[in-house]
Amino acid sequence: MMLTNRRVVVSGASRGIGRALVLRLIEAGAQVACGARAEAELAALAEAGAEVHPLDVRDPSSVEAFSSAVLQGGPVDALVNNAGVGTFGPIETFKVEDWDRIMETNVRGTFLLTQAFLGSLTSREGQVVNVTSDVSGRTFAGAAAYTASKHAQRAFTRALQMETVDAGVRVTEIRSGVVTTYFNDGTPRDPDDGALSADDVSEAIVFALMQPKHVRVDEVLLHPRKQPVEF
Ligand SMILES: NC(=O)c1ccc[n+]([C@@H]2O[C@H](COP(=O)([O-])OP(=O)(O)OC[C@H]3O[C@@H](n4cnc5c(N)ncnc54)[C@H](OP(=O)(O)O)[C@@H]3O)[C@@H](O)[C@H]2O)c1
Repeated sequence: MMLTNRRVVVSGASRGIGRALVLRLIEAGAQVACGARAEAELAALAEAGAEVHPLDVRDPSSVEAFSSAVLQGGPVDALVNNAGVGTFGPIETFKVEDWDRIMETNVRGTFLLTQAFLGSLTSREGQVVNVTSDVSGRTFAGAAAYTASKHAQRAFTRALQMETVDAGVRVTEIRSGVVTTYFNDGTPRDPDDGALSADDVSEAIVFALMQPKHVRVDEVLLHPRKQPVEF
C-alpha cells in the first residue's frame, strides 16, 4: 500500500493501460480520480473504488469541468496523461480528420489537462506521467500522424520538466513498445502475439510514482523481448 494518501488523476481510464493502471493504483492504496468518454466503463471503475467523471481531452470545456470536479475533492499529487489514439496509413491518402483527431487527443489533450492541474501539482510537489510510446523517438512508414504526435508529446514532456523542476514537480515519460490493448481503432490485439500487457506498462508507471521525492524518473523505455508486428 505504498501510495496511501496519494491522489492520482488518470486520463483515458475506460480500457487498456488506463483501466489497468486505475485498478493497480487502487490496489496500492492511492485515491484515484479518472475520466474518459465511455461512461459505462467508468461506472465499473467507480464500483472498484475510483472517483470517475466524464472526460473528453479534445474539448477544453470538458477538461475544465473534469478538473473542477476533481479539484473540488482536494489537491492532487499526480497526473497521468494516458488518453491517446492512433490510426495508421500512408500520408498520400491519410484523412485530415484522422490527423486532427490524433493531434487533438494526444498533443492538445496532454497540454490542456496538464495546464488544468499544474497549480495543484505545484502546490504538492507533485508528479506528471505522460504515456507516450517508444515511437516518441523513432518512426516508421504508415505512422506519420501518430509518431509526429508522440514526438510532440515527448518535447512537451521535456519542456514541462524544465519549467517545473524548481517547484519540486517531477515529470516522467513512459515509452513502451506494442501493448495488447484496444488501441488502433478499438480492435483488441491478440494477447499471444508477444506484445506487452497493460499491466506491464501500469507497473512501470507505479514504479515512477513510488520513488522518493529526491528521485526523478525522467523516462522509462519498455519493449517486449521480441517485437511483434507493428500497426
Ligand atoms: N497499445 C499500444 O501498443 C501502445 C504502445 C505505446 C503507447 N501507447 C499509448 O498508451 C496510451 C493508452 O492507449 P491504450 O493502448 O491503452 O489504448 P486503448 O485501449 O484504445 O485505450 C485508450 C484510452 O484513451 C481514451 N481516450 C481516447 N480518446 C479520448 C478522449 N478524447 N478523451 C478522453 N479519453 C480518450 C479511451 O477512452 P474513451 O474512448 O472511453 O474516451 C481509452 O480509455 C495511449 O496514449 C497510446 O498512445 C499504446
